[in-house]
Order: sequence, then structure tokens, then C-alpha cells
Amino acid sequence: MSSTIREVERRRAAARAGGGERRVAAQHAKGKLTARERLDVLLDEGSFEELDMYVEHNCVDFGMEAQIVPGDGVVTGSGTINGRLVFVFSQDFTVFGGSLSERHAAKICKIMDMALKVGAPVIGLNDSGGARIQEGVASLGGYAEVFQRNVLASGVVPQLSLVMGPCAGGAVYSPAMTDFIFMVKDSSYMFVTGPDVVKTVTNEVVTQEELGGAVTHTTKSSVADLAFENDIETLLAARDFFDFLPASNRTGVPVREADDPFDREEPSLDTLIPPSANQPYDMHELVRKVVDEGDFFELQPAHAGNIIIGFGRIEGRTVGIVANQPMVLAGCLDINSSKKAARFVRFCDAFEIPLVTFVDVPGFLPGVGQEHAGIIKHGAKLLFAYGEATVPKITVITRKAYGGAYDVMASKHLRGDLNYAWPTAEIAVMGAKGATEIIYRGRSPEEIAERTAEYEARFANPFVAASKGFIDEVILPHSTRRRIALALRKLRGKRLENPWKKHDNIPL
Ligand code: HXC
Repeated sequence: MSSTIREVERRRAAARAGGGERRVAAQHAKGKLTARERLDVLLDEGSFEELDMYVEHNCVDFGMEAQIVPGDGVVTGSGTINGRLVFVFSQDFTVFGGSLSERHAAKICKIMDMALKVGAPVIGLNDSGGARIQEGVASLGGYAEVFQRNVLASGVVPQLSLVMGPCAGGAVYSPAMTDFIFMVKDSSYMFVTGPDVVKTVTNEVVTQEELGGAVTHTTKSSVADLAFENDIETLLAARDFFDFLPASNRTGVPVREADDPFDREEPSLDTLIPPSANQPYDMHELVRKVVDEGDFFELQPAHAGNIIIGFGRIEGRTVGIVANQPMVLAGCLDINSSKKAARFVRFCDAFEIPLVTFVDVPGFLPGVGQEHAGIIKHGAKLLFAYGEATVPKITVITRKAYGGAYDVMASKHLRGDLNYAWPTAEIAVMGAKGATEIIYRGRSPEEIAERTAEYEARFANPFVAASKGFIDEVILPHSTRRRIALALRKLRGKRLENPWKKHDNIPL
């Protein structure tokens, strides 16, 4: 008996050794943790249960039959984060550079299948040189098996990718199909073709970091949601983030004890809106003052700052927040902000996370560049996302809600459940000056000024919209949290279904 146990221990130790001391030291020298060390940080202590530790690759080309490392470059299994179940895979760069073989892929697929069956999120820790070159097409098949599962899991269980090393070639497409991507600065990158190929084909000279590093993807491309300084920071952020996520599309949002009173008043919000309509203010302040304990987990803060998206809690339950940001582009909707918010709204809707929308939007961003790049189609993404969403939708207009952007931002007409406005709200087709210049084209500047004042008096308030029932109530800013909390309580039993369809055809 004891020799059998010793054999188990010997085999386990061999698997845990990964690619050996030299390669582990090289991993550490790059400032990176190993696959297993990462799981230790990500998961609750002692909660990790590994599967498929003894899986070996089946390649017999290029001398591979003599190079067997149990586990084959990926550590898979399940564990808990603050007590909640999660399935994980963590690629081991010390074993063939974490490259994906047929068996490596099968291990990932196994835990994804299990996560789907039981309804628990999947977190993938990516650190891989891509397809296992020695395996050729078998590896490509393996990737496609993972991709297919990413698609099937989408909207059923949350999928989070932590990119913690190279992620090149087709390897980028699995993370790209997951819901969220976190990256590590200076040690992770994602690109379809690397700098060498880029140089050959387009003659552009670019570093890995510039082409596909964490900063590039969280500012320019928006491929990734957040960039962190190192592995530990990334993994700890993933734990915090996980706490906001439902386990699946059937469970509803997680609920945690909340000490923050639902009716906490915030008198400072009564003076948040500056006296002049052209003066910006920071919408983050409103968001933080409304959510429980000021705890707001913002996504994509460095991309399309004219819209804010992220998760908070009200009375201990997750809500998705979407808010125009007057400090960037005056809060206009443009292509990037529409795409950013649309995908977020769809995530929330898929996972039954109520949406709270704060509106201060002067319209869509005008310009040849925007029109030629397809603001019509991209703006329609957000319109479509809000229009199809059946989760509770609560809207608060703080200041401007002009034109098409008024309609888009979870208006009553898009089945907003409770639409509130602050007394400072202005709900109109456009700003008073622009409107008057069109209606009274060619009139003297004095008359235009007079008419502008008239137009402002008529529309620069929430009451015209309220008189039509488009606004349910004009609320005082200091009571915003209470109003939202009560609205969410009321809407807990909301049931709304869209007509049967195979799926919709959102303007992609
Ligand atoms: C097999 C690989 C490998 C791979 C790395 N290794 N990538 N083994 N298949 N794809 C091995 C190396 O041989 C080395 O083994 C160890 O991993 C570490 O690699 P290094 O090159 O020493 O590390 P580093 O200098 O940090 O460079 C990392 C790297 C580089 C940038 C990822 O290894 C690299 O460029 N690899 C190839 C990337 C690539 O072209 N992949 C295929 C993409 S195409 P030893 O034994 O020395 O430790 C693709 C198609 C998928 O993925 C399509 C799906 C649709």
C-alpha cells in the first residue's frame, strides 16, 4: 500500500515540477509567477482541486516521444474564490512554452464542459507560445475545440481571461471570445502576427509592447479591459471582480451583506452640476456616491473615457453601471464609446444584472471621421443593446439628454423601467442655440439670442418630458441612491421576454 501511495506522490511531484528548475527560474526572472503559483493567489487557500495532472501529449514527431511532461503544459481544475465555485486553467510556460497541443486543449475543454454543465464561471490564465509547433494541425484542431466551447459558453457562464504572457497567433481568439480580458503590463502581449511578420509584410517597425502590450490593448484597441502592474495585482483584481459576477445566466446576481444604508443621502450631489451647462463635472463622483461603500469596479477606464462602464452593488447586489462622462468629449457618444457600452449592456442582460444608467449626453459626436468610420452602425449597437435588454433598467438623467442619444441611453421608449431626472435635466432635440439657429435661420443675432432664451425656458428642464410620462419622477440629487435602491427592490420580480427568435442580428 505504502509503495502505491509513494508512486502517486512521485507522479504528482513530477507533474508539479513542470518544465524543471531552470525554466521555473527563467519564468521568475521575467517577474512572472508559475502556473501553479498563480492559481494559489487566485483561488481560496487549499481550494484548488486539480484534474488531468497525468495527461501526456500524443506527439511522436520531432523527437517529442522522448519529451513527456505530465500535465502537458496546462494546469486545470476547479476551486473557489471567496467561497464561490470557479473552473480554471493555467498555462505553464515552463512546459514547451505553454504551447497548446491536442491533449492540452482537451484538458481545457474538459473543464469548460464541466463549467457549462454545473453553471460556474471559467477563468483562463493564458501564458503560451501558441500552437504546439511539433503537432501541426492537431494543435489547430485543439484550438478550434476551445473556440467552439467559448462560443457555447458565451452568455451561459461568465468567462474571464487573464493574459499573463505571450498570446500570439490564433491563441488570441480564445480570450477574444471571452467576456473580459485583464493583462499584465510589460510581460503580456496579444497579437495575430508578431513584429517580425509585421515588418516583412508592411515594413512597419514596432515592438511587441507597442503592437500588442497591455497598454496598447487597454487604450487603443480596447481588446482588453484592464492593465495591471504585475501578476499578483492582476490575480487579486480578478478575485475582486469575480465577486460581482453571477455564477451563470440562471443564478441571478450574487448577494452579500451590505452595511451601507439603502437610503443614505448625499447632499453634495445637490451641487454636483455646475452652474454653466458647458462646464464639465466628474460623473465618477455620482457613481461612487450611489453604489455601496463607494465600491465601483470600472472596466476599460483608459479607452473611450466619454462613457463609464463597470460594476457596483446596491444593497449588496451587483448592478451594471453605464454613465456618460462630461469630462471627456463633453460626454458625446462616438464609435468607441458606443461599442464599449453596448458589449457591457449585453453582458449584463445575458447574466440578469440590472442596469443603472446615468445620462448627461449632448448627442452623437459630429464629424466626417465618425461618419465615415460608421458611427451609424456602431451607435446602433448601443441602441440595439439597450432595446433588447430585458433586465431591470433604471435611468437617471442628470443634465443633458439631447437628440438620438436621449433615445439611446435607456430611455422610457426602450423599455426603461424607471426613468428619473434631476431638476437640472434638459431633455430636448438639441441644445437651445443650435435649435434656434435652425428654426430661425437668417434672423438677427439679437432675435436668435431672444429665441434661444425662449427655447431654453421651454426645454432646459425635465418637466416637458415628465408631462408626457417619459420621465417617471423628477428626483432630488441627494436622494438618488434611495430612489435607485427602491427601484431595484420593486423590479426584482421583473419578467419580460422578447419575441421568439433564433437570435437577433445586432449591427456588428
Ligand atoms: C512548441 C514552443 C512554442 C510553440 C515556444 N516554445 N513556443 N514549443 N510550440 N509554439 C518553447 C521553446 O521551444 C522553448 O523551449 C520554450 O517554449 C520557451 O520559448 P523561448 O522562445 O525560449 O521563450 P521566449 O524567448 O520567452 O519567447 C517566447 C515566444 C517564442 C515569444 C512565445 O517562444 C515564440 O515566438 N514562440 C513561437 C510562437 C509562435 O509562432 N507560435 C505559433 C503561432 S501560430 P525550451 O525547451 O528551450 O524551453 C498559432 C496558430 C494557432 O498559434 C491557430 C489557431 C486558430
